[in-house]
Amino acid sequence: MRWLRRRGRCLAALATVVLALPLSATVSAAATAPPPAAPSALVPQPVSHLPMAGRGFTLTPRTRIAVLSKKPTALGVGTYLAKVLAPATGHTLPVVAVSRAPKQAVVLDPNGPEELGAEGYTLSSDRDGVVVRAHGAEGLFRGVQTLRQLLPAAVESPTRAPGPWTVSPVRISDSPRYAYRGVMLDVARRFYPVAQVKRYIDQAAAYKINTLHLHLTDDQGWRIAIDAIPELTKVGASTQSGFTHGSGWYYSAADYKEIVAYAQSRFMTVVPEIDGPGHTRAALASVPGLNCDDKAKPPYSGFDVGISLYCLEDERHTADTTRFLRTVIKAVAKLTPGPYIHLGGDETPQATPSQYAAYVEAATSAATSRKKTVMGWHQLGQAAIPAGSLMQYWGEEGDRESIGTADETETIGFVRSGVAQGAKFVMSPSDHAYLDMKYDVSTPYGLSWSGYVPVQKSYEWDPAKATAKPDGTGSIVPAGQIAGVEAALWADRAYEGSDALPTPTTRWPEPHAYAEYMSFPRLPALAEVGWTPQSARDWQDFRRRLAQQGPRWTAAGIGYHPAPGVPWPGVTKVVEGAHSVETGGKSPDNPGGSTTDGAAMVLWAPNRGRNQTWTFTKQSDGSYTIINKTSGKCLDVANGSRSSGAAAVQRTCTGEIGQRWKVTPLVDGEHTIASARSGLVLTAASATDGAKVIQQKATGTALQRWTVD
Ligand code: ACM
Repeated sequence: MRWLRRRGRCLAALATVVLALPLSATVSAAATAPPPAAPSALVPQPVSHLPMAGRGFTLTPRTRIAVLSKKPTALGVGTYLAKVLAPATGHTLPVVAVSRAPKQAVVLDPNGPEELGAEGYTLSSDRDGVVVRAHGAEGLFRGVQTLRQLLPAAVESPTRAPGPWTVSPVRISDSPRYAYRGVMLDVARRFYPVAQVKRYIDQAAAYKINTLHLHLTDDQGWRIAIDAIPELTKVGASTQSGFTHGSGWYYSAADYKEIVAYAQSRFMTVVPEIDGPGHTRAALASVPGLNCDDKAKPPYSGFDVGISLYCLEDERHTADTTRFLRTVIKAVAKLTPGPYIHLGGDETPQATPSQYAAYVEAATSAATSRKKTVMGWHQLGQAAIPAGSLMQYWGEEGDRESIGTADETETIGFVRSGVAQGAKFVMSPSDHAYLDMKYDVSTPYGLSWSGYVPVQKSYEWDPAKATAKPDGTGSIVPAGQIAGVEAALWADRAYEGSDALPTPTTRWPEPHAYAEYMSFPRLPALAEVGWTPQSARDWQDFRRRLAQQGPRWTAAGIGYHPAPGVPWPGVTKVVEGAHSVETGGKSPDNPGGSTTDGAAMVLWAPNRGRNQTWTFTKQSDGSYTIINKTSGKCLDVANGSRSSGAAAVQRTCTGEIGQRWKVTPLVDGEHTIASARSGLVLTAASATDGAKVIQQKATGTALQRWTVD
């Protein structure tokens, strides 16, 4: 069962479909004209960021982008910046190589000190100009992403927008926490045309993501042309999840090179994944000899996981599979300038240990013979892997909870084995970093086998503790073996109504629309997890900075999800209606879906399920009744108490004053909720699971400030 985690949990998700709330019931948002963005709300948060007094520098049609170098890579960053600025500003800023920094210019200086590292930079701006300094072009490029965010949001518009184009005055010094900050696109289950991959590259690069992992092969499709085996794309690319009889659903060598070059121009490395020995049905449908009966399987367009395996049962088939892998990996390695090839290794329920080991031996030796560093899902750690390999951890809470117990999960065992072999790890814990997990019960796409992943959950975790016990101790992967972080956007269920299998009338968004809805705002959250020091990260601060990115995405045409918990400018929250309510990262919950009068409400991790859904209904005095979705009972105070510390309970609705609540908006989308009888405000007794909700005198403390989303 553990092997089939993705499929097993899918079935659980199907069972919850009847509980799903309509989208409009949980979020009531109305768009109004956004106010101007607050300056200097940066994501990811730089290591050091000093907003300065005074006027900033205003771009004019005569502003030059002055590059202190003749090197094409550094000049290229200047040209890139000019291209980013042109559509909205209407200015075609000249890019010039100079030997001395001029005033009244945007200066890009790649001759900064080595201590900045390859990606570090400093940025200073004032009324006289902007200077971005780095040790090489890559750091300049990262600094230019910060510069974009110092301009008004409308600078992201693809068409002319009104200025002025003033850069906020700041002093910034910055460099990343981790060298590997990636995002994975599942182009196998859902094919993304080249233009949509490029669009995503640009969106991710804006948040300093530096690695694009392409999941190129799976049961539902083979997406990279291999000249020596044309059947792989003729047959293996004819399906996607939910689609059959296609053609052109793959990248030719030229397409792939175009993606790689585009990524490279954004200082992003492409990691191609050729998954195996499971997730190989598209290959088994294309090449008869990879099957034990030497018969090609029919192509697959379904939604199951764990359905395929290369034949590794006897010497001949193992030799054939080895030859196949060598051919494929040679071709992919030749097209890939980056150092890695990802060999998958996940979810292989039918493989015996020796079959699995045979795959790993064949695939890794093919990769190392092409001078590529092996990357793989953490399962690969169970076999012998080459020195310096990179494992990708995708475990979750249950794995962390098992650490140090007699029942450590297999996942933890594989991680231990990878660590012992000296592997480095990229952290993609599925309960934080899987972008195909629903935000909450109302998310139209995706799955929830690793739980819901609201924005706060995508943000509030520490890669250094991703393989530690729940109390943060006993990390299995030592800090020195953590390479970084990767967000993973699977496409198992990239359609509306994804709790059930699709029907002929199911609506499938364009791949880019699915990607944008699921990635924004969580990809920027994960980008900050990878970039910003843990000590400089705080959810309350982040949600406010993140909110200021919303107008940028609107200007850029990114179809983001204005997810709950973030005070998006221009999105007015309406109190009337059904909501989840939150403070301190916890939601009031009707424990166990109780229907008992007098049952005390508790705080719990938000899941936006029925027990945590509350319907606010305005009363004639302007206050609200607050009714639990499961029980239909009204929020009340124990024994009608007027005393501080009395618990919030549920009771059959009577219309009396003790069941009415005054909701007062504060800044940033938060509210106080006061009993109309006592005047005391709802307060979280603490921000821990199971804590009581009580009434107390208003003090302005964080645990009295509720989001009502
Ligand atoms: C995975 O989610 N099967 C890596």
